Formats: sequence, structure tokens, C-alpha cells
Amino acid sequence: MSPLIDSHGRTKRKLRISLTDRCNFRCTYCMPEHPDWLPRASLLDGGEIVRLAGLFVDQGIDQIRLTGGEPLLRRDLVACVRAINGLRERGLRRLSMTTNASRIAPLAATLVDAGIDDFNVSLDAVDPAVFQKMTKREVAPVLDGIHALMDAGASVKLNAVVVRGDNEGEVVPLLDWAMARGLPLRFIEYMPLDAPGHWRRDAVVSEAEMLAAIGERHALETLPRGSDPASPYRVDGHYPLGIISTVSHPFCASCDRLRLTATGELFTCLFSPVGTPLGTRLREGVDDETLTATVRRAVWLKDAGYASRPGPVERTITMHAMGG
Ligand code: GTP
Ligand code: 5AD
Ligand code: SF4
Repeated sequence: MSPLIDSHGRTKRKLRISLTDRCNFRCTYCMPEHPDWLPRASLLDGGEIVRLAGLFVDQGIDQIRLTGGEPLLRRDLVACVRAINGLRERGLRRLSMTTNASRIAPLAATLVDAGIDDFNVSLDAVDPAVFQKMTKREVAPVLDGIHALMDAGASVKLNAVVVRGDNEGEVVPLLDWAMARGLPLRFIEYMPLDAPGHWRRDAVVSEAEMLAAIGERHALETLPRGSDPASPYRVDGHYPLGIISTVSHPFCASCDRLRLTATGELFTCLFSPVGTPLGTRLREGVDDETLTATVRRAVWLKDAGYASRPGPVERTITMHAMGG
């Protein structure tokens, strides 16, 4: 089948699947203090997820990233990973996971064996008090999880959302910590995707500010941009650093992603006001052909993106339910 393409000429290659909206952390930049969780019965089961994922793979999606909430909160996680890994026969090339890593230590080797090629771990601070302020949880289990992934031979990248007033002082310590362990790190500008009314533009630490702080301590080279959402840099002549600057430098013009929520809603953009309820249609008993046509229509109508809109966008769905 021809690849999935939108009316702005962007071909879709990547699908992010949220396995659950539940999370054992309470990151202030990601969710309200007291989130309304999705009704449990509305979450797709493993078979439903694999059926939908397969339709995307048949249409040219070759990279799937499993997200949450926190994927490790799904009891059938390993079975889900093994089943999605089976889609390699239909064209899947890369299977990844984004996790807070706090519960991953006992399962690290099993997940690698089940088919996860690489893990992105959120680590916003190495200082326990700063980490606690941002996530409302302890940093020690996260550091243990990162080390367990490394011991299992997994490929690991770190993500740090930088919020003014919280962790702008952690930019250099985090970089030093990651460099000492040879772990690639990406700093992320704070996006307006948390609890409604919470985001403020002045809390965004821009890419330029982060570069200025790093440049005082380290040699920095700018590298040519690839298809990654992050602008790439080389630190001290060898270390790969990325900065995801969605707010100051949106990359919508080259966006190759789609998102499926834990209930099977297809969001074609992080900032789409509404999704397409594929999970509901599937449970109504529609066939694969009809579901595929629904996907193709929704993708064709994909919004030009955040970059084309003035000012902050108020969202009905927050990051924890969207899958990051
Ligand atoms: P890689 O496959 O390693 O490039 O992963 P990724 O950066 O796509 O995924 P990850 O889950 O690590 O996300 C890191 C940050 O990038 C999060 O803050 C995401 O919300 C943000 N991000 C990922 N995809 C998009 C996107 O399509 N648009 C925007 N604006 N931000 C994105
Ligand atoms: N802005 C930027 N990144 C965010 N993430 C969660 N909420 C936000 C936000 N408001 C990040 C998490 C995780 C990734 C999936 O999304 O830190 O690394
Ligand atoms: Fe893609 Fe939307 Fe993100 Fe722009 S804001 S890069 S269109 S998901």
C-alpha cells in the first residue's frame, strides 16, 4: 500500500503508541496534580493494540515508540512488546520505548529480549531535591533503572525538560552526569501540553539560553540537522547532545509522526484539538479495510502544526494521556 501522506506533503514513518495513561510519577510539566484517569475498560487490550499497529505498519510506518503515562505500569507489557515485535515481518524496523525507568530494573533484560531496540529515559535532574520538586518522586530508582538498562546492553538516551524556576540550574550538572556515563542527552523546551492554564511562556528556557549556559563550561559545535526532532551538537569534540526546541524552533514542516492514545484515538499532531476514535470503531466491529480508510483520511487532513499558529495553544488532552 502507498505510504501515509498528508495534504502538506509529509510522509508518516513513526507511530507513538501510548500503552496506558497511568503513571507512577506526577511531573508538573506533564499532568494536572490530580489527573482524571481514562476508564480502565476503555484502554485497548494487547490484541487490539497489535491489530491497529499492524494496519499502520502495512501503510509504511516502520518505527514504533511505546509510551505512556508509564509503559511499565501495564501488567501485560512484555506480551504486548513481543506481539508488536512480530510486526517486523510486515515492515517494522525499529521498536522503542520512552519510560521514567523507575520500575524497569527487574525487566530490563526481558524487554531487550522481547524486542525493544532503544529506550529514552526522562531524567530532569540528578539533584534529588530538584528531581523531587518536578516529579514528586525520588530520583534513586530512576538512576538504578538507567544502570540496569546499561547492564542489559540496551541503547539508552536521556530526556530532560527544562523549566525555569525548577531545573535550569541542572543543565550543566545533567550534561556532566550523562557525559561521564557516555549516555546521549536531549534537553527539551517546555511545551504547553500540561494542565490547562499551567504553562507560561516565561517558564520556557530556550535553546539559546541552554547553549549559553553549556558554552560557559564546555566547547560546543553545531552539527547539521537530521530527521531527529533535536538540533544536534557536539560537546568537547566527542559527546552527542540534542536540544528539542519545539517552542523556539518548531519542526512541523518535517513532521513524520502520528500518535495513538491508550484508548485508540489517533492524534495526527501533538496540538490537534481532537483525535479520530479508531479504538471505538474497532470495538463496533468495523473491518480492517474501513479502519485503514479512516486512518488515511485522518492523516491526509493533518494540521499544518503548532508552528503555523500564533501563541500558546490550549489543549483538551494533556501530555500524560497523549503519550509525550
Ligand atoms: P527519537 O526516536 O529518539 O527521536 O524519539 P523522540 O524524541 O521522538 O521521542 P521521546 O519520547 O524521547 O520524546 C522527546 C520529546 O520530544 C518529548 O517532549 C516529545 O513530546 C517531543 N516530541 C516527540 N515527537 C514530537 C513531535 O512530533 N512534535 C513535537 N512538537 N514534539 C515531539
Ligand atoms: N513539554 C515538553 N516535554 C514534555 N514531556 C512531557 N511533558 C512535556 C512538556 N510539557 C516529555 C517527557 C518525556 C517525553 C515523552 O515527553 O519528559 O521525556
Ligand atoms: Fe508534528 Fe504537531 Fe509536533 Fe509540529 S507540533 S512537530 S506537526 S506533532
